[in-house]
Amino acid sequence: MLVGKRILLVIAGGIAAYKSLDLIRRLRERGASVRAILTRGGAEFVTPLSVAALSEEKVYTDLFSLDDESEMGHIRLSREADLLLVAPATADILAKMAAGIADDLATTALLATNKPVMAAPTMNVEMWNHKATQENVATLRARGIVTVGPGSGDLACGEVGSGRMAEPLEIIAQIEHFFGTAAPLSGRRALVTSGPTHEPIDPVRFIGNRSSGRQGHAIAAALARRGAATLLVSGPTAERDPAGVTVTRVETARDMLEACRAALPVDVAVCAAAVADWRPAEAAGSKLKKARGKPPSLSLVENPDILASLAARGNGRPRLVIGFAAETEKVAENAKAKRARKGCDWMLANDVSTGTDTFGGDSNTIEFVTETGSEGWPRMTKQEVAERLADRIAANLRAGAAE
Ligand code: CTP
Repeated sequence: MLVGKRILLVIAGGIAAYKSLDLIRRLRERGASVRAILTRGGAEFVTPLSVAALSEEKVYTDLFSLDDESEMGHIRLSREADLLLVAPATADILAKMAAGIADDLATTALLATNKPVMAAPTMNVEMWNHKATQENVATLRARGIVTVGPGSGDLACGEVGSGRMAEPLEIIAQIEHFFGTAAPLSGRRALVTSGPTHEPIDPVRFIGNRSSGRQGHAIAAALARRGAATLLVSGPTAERDPAGVTVTRVETARDMLEACRAALPVDVAVCAAAVADWRPAEAAGSKLKKARGKPPSLSLVENPDILASLAARGNGRPRLVIGFAAETEKVAENAKAKRARKGCDWMLANDVSTGTDTFGGDSNTIEFVTETGSEGWPRMTKQEVAERLADRIAANLRAGAAE
């Protein structure tokens, strides 16, 4: 769990630079943001384009580039980070760091920083064992620089021994240990529903709604980042599958209920899907033809209520069951009644009236309703709602575990 942590990653010129791409992805999955400096050597192994695509940030390469300097000087770059991570750390960059050499952007940022520095060394076994390298590493450690690895095994140069860069997950574990941010939901199971459902009228038409799935997907991602094994049951949406989440895609409310039941037992269930309340009593097997002047009338039947079904008391009930209430009037009042009716623990009510930009939009204004009362959350992005809710869930489950 590295939510909000800013990592400045220095990628030096070693064959293990390819692992740094995976490292970026995994750091971001845990909520960290990653800015990268690619040394000239690093750029021989991975391209700035791949680094930029994975970090979704500009990649910094050259100390003397007017562009880089005008946008972000090396001092700012090193100060606007919570940790500088050198991975791979070659014998060359370790030697420069130990000697205080600053002859490119990476080494200048490392010399200019007032932030903690971590390094993941990698090199040929003889280079690693060389007295010069060992002395440099000892000097750096004595200055407080944390090293992770190298591991031993087959090296890319064909020799065997110590010199392999630590695996991305080992580096991340070390970073989490360093920040004291072990995942608060690790060992927990979470279920999230998201998106609309489509209820078929015939093979080409359906009843649906405007839900984008953005809120539910953001919640699943936030829970996964906090270490929960997270299953997302999603109706049809254009949202990408969140990293680190197991996704089951469904069409109808009945399929969604079945997928949710299959996911049990879980510690927490969050029902953010906008489930269609009704479905056509019978879906036509072939496309309905337009008989002139005679529009068909649809006979509807009620869909199962997934939230109420998960919240029903019984052995398999998740410890926390959470729903969303889409309201267009008397938001808090209706949400309180809805919470009681559905039997869930918490209800996040939102005003979905036209013009609020909630349904299908990017932000949400939540009334957070529990058994004991309610509180208004200020207008915030769906991402922020997800983070706040995930923190509440983690705190609640932690308190439960302590009981
Ligand atoms: N919900 C559900 N299954 C349904 C209908 C709703 O799981 N068949 C869940 C939603 O995911 C949401 C909560 O119930 O968490 C409330 O949804 P909402 O549409 O606000 O409530 P409804 O039960 O449909 O009530 P109404 O339409 O009367 O406001």
